[in-house]
Amino acid sequence: MRFNNILVEKNNAFAKVTINRPKKLNALNSETIHELSDAFEALENDEDVKVIVLTGSGEKAFVAGADISEFADFSVDEGGSLARKGQEMLFDLIENLSKPVIAAVNGFALGGGLELAMACHFRIASDNAKMGLPEVSLGVIPGYGGTQRLPQLVGKGKAMELIMTAGMISAEDALSCGLVNHVTTQEALLPLVEKIASKIMRNSSVAISGAIKAVNANFEDGTNGFDVEINEFGNCFGTADFKEGTTAFLEKRKPNFPGA
Ligand code: COA
Repeated sequence: MRFNNILVEKNNAFAKVTINRPKKLNALNSETIHELSDAFEALENDEDVKVIVLTGSGEKAFVAGADISEFADFSVDEGGSLARKGQEMLFDLIENLSKPVIAAVNGFALGGGLELAMACHFRIASDNAKMGLPEVSLGVIPGYGGTQRLPQLVGKGKAMELIMTAGMISAEDALSCGLVNHVTTQEALLPLVEKIASKIMRNSSVAISGAIKAVNANFEDGTNGFDVEINEFGNCFGTADFKEGTTAFLEKRKPNFPGA
């Protein structure tokens, strides 16, 4: 697949997706959103890939937001459609991917950039990163899931303050409110992500995909997460991974999961 705005690299079971518009601080224009959607669809269907990292190119930005130049003269209908299409095509796709997606937040993650990082399963930041939802300073609100996912991660009061002030917080502050899981230096960011990814890869990919579904169910309107968990738990008993995991434990050896 050929892309103009992103890079996709694979190293065995590890895939790295880099948003590559450094001169525009990796702002999400429509073409980039389409390319990311195509790339994540392809990685979802790529049986070799077990963990995906999403990051930004350059040393300054993860993603500095949706591309403001593209929507500045939109109508009400166009605005609504921009948010709906983006959410369905990319943000919801990432959140519901069956394999882990880790955001490596390497700089500014603002507006749509922070929303993109929040759609990932978890986030690791470099110590220069700055995060925020500045939309109300532009006369608009977050439209790619920010009003929903930020309170899920940091609580309602903190989310309200961040959204209302349109302010930016440091990586350390993001760590202390649970927005990111770890903070490290810029040089150590990808090595740390790879270390965590390799821990994940030792486990059953089938069980991980069931766990993602069950955790996400907690945040779905009208879905009983406990029922989803029971169902996914039951399904595990029919997998080769479960047979291998339990057999390896009883035989006191490391499992070699077939991933099925
Ligand atoms: N949309 C479109 N272009 C953007 C952008 C965005 N969200 N964020 C940055 N850019 C562009 C700038 O227009 C500039 O382009 P130019 O060189 O052609 O003029 C380039 O990226 C570099 O940005 P610049 O503002 O010069 O860098 P800076 O270091 O002075 O400031 C930021 C960095 C992140 C503070 C600043 O770019 C900014 O506030 N960006 C917008 C953030 C935002 O409101 N995002 C939410 C959108 S809904």
